[in-house]
Amino acid sequence: MKNQVRIWAPATVANLNVGFDALGCALNEPGEELVIRRTEEAGMVRIVKIEGADLDATAENNVAGVAAKSLLNALGNPCGLEIELIKKVKPGSGLGSSASSAAGAVVGVNALLEAGLRPDELIPFALDGEELASGARHSDNVAPAVLGGLVLSGPDGSIKQIPAPRDWHLVLLHPQITIRTSEARAVLPETVPLKDAVRQNALFATFIAACFEGNGAEAALNMDDLLVGPHRHGLIPHFKQMREASMESGARAMGISGSGPSSFHIAMCREDAHAIASKLSEIMNVEAVPFELYITEISLQGARVIS
Ligand code: HSE
Repeated sequence: MKNQVRIWAPATVANLNVGFDALGCALNEPGEELVIRRTEEAGMVRIVKIEGADLDATAENNVAGVAAKSLLNALGNPCGLEIELIKKVKPGSGLGSSASSAAGAVVGVNALLEAGLRPDELIPFALDGEELASGARHSDNVAPAVLGGLVLSGPDGSIKQIPAPRDWHLVLLHPQITIRTSEARAVLPETVPLKDAVRQNALFATFIAACFEGNGAEAALNMDDLLVGPHRHGLIPHFKQMREASMESGARAMGISGSGPSSFHIAMCREDAHAIASKLSEIMNVEAVPFELYITEISLQGARVIS
């Protein structure tokens, strides 16, 4: 019987321009670690340590606590849990920070209790946690954080893994400001022009087809955001300037990661990724915006036990 597990859970990019609320991918970096220990107080979950973020440590008010408790309860509360969170991605970054915690918690509890649930069976419990942070049961971050890769969340709650482009190099820029998802959703219109919706559908469908054909370059070429991004760009510091610099430095696509403020930039080779990263750093330095930057790839693995 295990008494403790250490979990790594990936950050994620949701929406990816074409799949608002439906598409997301897991990243190799950044991610977060969780340590989950078995205790004797049946059904009791305690968050005993949070590193790297100023979050409520009351289990009922903490994404990892809620997700862990939901699964523990479904498993009949055979024990209690102590959770340590080592967060590398700040909440409100647009990099799926709460989804990492929720995914890490359920993967951890499943492993600790040797419950044997499949990753897709863990998603509803992770969503119980995610709902606390975002007020909605969107699985565009949670599903890739649990399953890894590129994941499509269907309107009926179905989850499908799409072959992830293996040749993408992703640059993630996280300006150190916070945008709440609710704030980024409040700027969206109720309705969109039919011609934009029609073109967006065609772009999304072509993107998915290109992924199945293993053509990452064509997938990237179709990643235009006509419906959501244009309403949100004003929330992101120096977005237009970053977009021009990024595309001039070789990016095949770029956009807002989730609800921002992070942006993602897709390059087809390491050299271009470094050129984009250096240009973005230059802009942030000139504009005196503190930032974190990652050069990474899609992680084919979701949250997992590391010891
Ligand atoms: N898809 C959501 C949004 C964020 O862009 O508002 C993550 O669930």
